[in-house]
Amino acid sequence: MTTAAAKIAVVGGDGIGPEVTEQAIRVTDAVLKHYGVAFTWNRLPWSSSFYKKTGQILPDDGWATLQQHDAILFGAIGSPDVPDTVTVHGLLLPMRRKFDLYVNLRPAYLFDGVQSPLRDKAPGSIDMLVYRENTEGEYAPTGGRLYAGTPNETAVQTSVFTRRGCDRILRAAFEAARKRPRKKVTSITKSNAQVHTLGLWDDAYRDVSKQYPDVQSHSLLVDAAAMDFVRKPEVFDVVVASNLFGDILTDLSAIITGSVGLGASANINPERVFPSMFEPLHGSAPDIAGKGIANPLAAILSAKLMIDHLGYPKAATALQTAVARVLKEAKVRTPDLGGKATTTDMGDAVVAAI
Ligand code: NAD
Ligand code: IPM
Ligand code: MN
Repeated sequence: MTTAAAKIAVVGGDGIGPEVTEQAIRVTDAVLKHYGVAFTWNRLPWSSSFYKKTGQILPDDGWATLQQHDAILFGAIGSPDVPDTVTVHGLLLPMRRKFDLYVNLRPAYLFDGVQSPLRDKAPGSIDMLVYRENTEGEYAPTGGRLYAGTPNETAVQTSVFTRRGCDRILRAAFEAARKRPRKKVTSITKSNAQVHTLGLWDDAYRDVSKQYPDVQSHSLLVDAAAMDFVRKPEVFDVVVASNLFGDILTDLSAIITGSVGLGASANINPERVFPSMFEPLHGSAPDIAGKGIANPLAAILSAKLMIDHLGYPKAATALQTAVARVLKEAKVRTPDLGGKATTTDMGDAVVAAI
């Protein structure tokens, strides 16, 4: 017997967003069937074209609608012909703040069968979890422009770091490290330059790290971290970073594992007061949108994080195993991985592996 287990809001969004989320839905349905479970999918059309038709990126009751779901599966938002202030700042970033999705978990794993752009990296040698702060920091929408169009034009954007905000993301990272074999945390900073905000981050790191004597931890400047992600990525286990640093470092952590098309992410409200949101870390990729060649694995692996979050760890593991098998066999590869397969071919291959 199959039971309807969770209600998922699907926001495919723009560009390749809808293409990859459809594959994530198919694959999720296929894996859950083996466990007698089914999710219901509520597809919401909010996107740049919705905005062009209605003048709004989401309807007035959009946030309330999302809140009626157990989780949100998101594709990507952003279109060359619509300003980011409408798309990214009307939907994606407010969602992270409104639903207090303060943990942005972005795993990076080098799968067997995938070529890293770094030389001689063995399968599994890159295996890190990046914990990115997702509600404040450099992304706080505080600031403005003055004297537009004059020689005195002035722009101010203020980072907002709170003790609570630093503490809770650091704690989430240490909790995760405690459950992993290497039990290691790297805190990313730049307090040599940003003495106020990242000084507070460092203080919080020092205090939180004392509460986890079983976890080995150290602090690393972000420029040195960028170098070490390339020079010796195998040393990283759990990495914890501010909103902007975490954003930049996770395009890097994804590409060293072969493609941004493999980079999954979970935007989590650990208290479960709000629905958590799951999305690939890549964008809408306007350069390949509509061609049917986007790699759907980042979206599929994000669905895996969602399945796990909703309480089906066995199904999540089965999905991860199926993806690993497809990558190891290396028969079906999208162009970003050096092949000629389509988005649907890749979805088919994962469904078959399940
Ligand atoms: P992008 O991630 O969309 O694309 C960067 C490069 O990676 C492109 O060459 C693209 O073709 C490639 N790529 C991305 N995903 C891929 C996939 N699944 N398979 C194969 N190749 C893939 O970044 P961008 O071009 O800087 O941004 C495009 C738009 O997306 C912008 O409007 C940006 O603001 C937005 N964006 C949205 C999100 C989100 O919704 N979470 C994330 C990042 C960027
Ligand atoms: C991401 C994206 C977003 C971010 C953009 C679209 C604002 O790059 O999800 O990684 O910086 O958080
Ligand atoms: Mn990003």
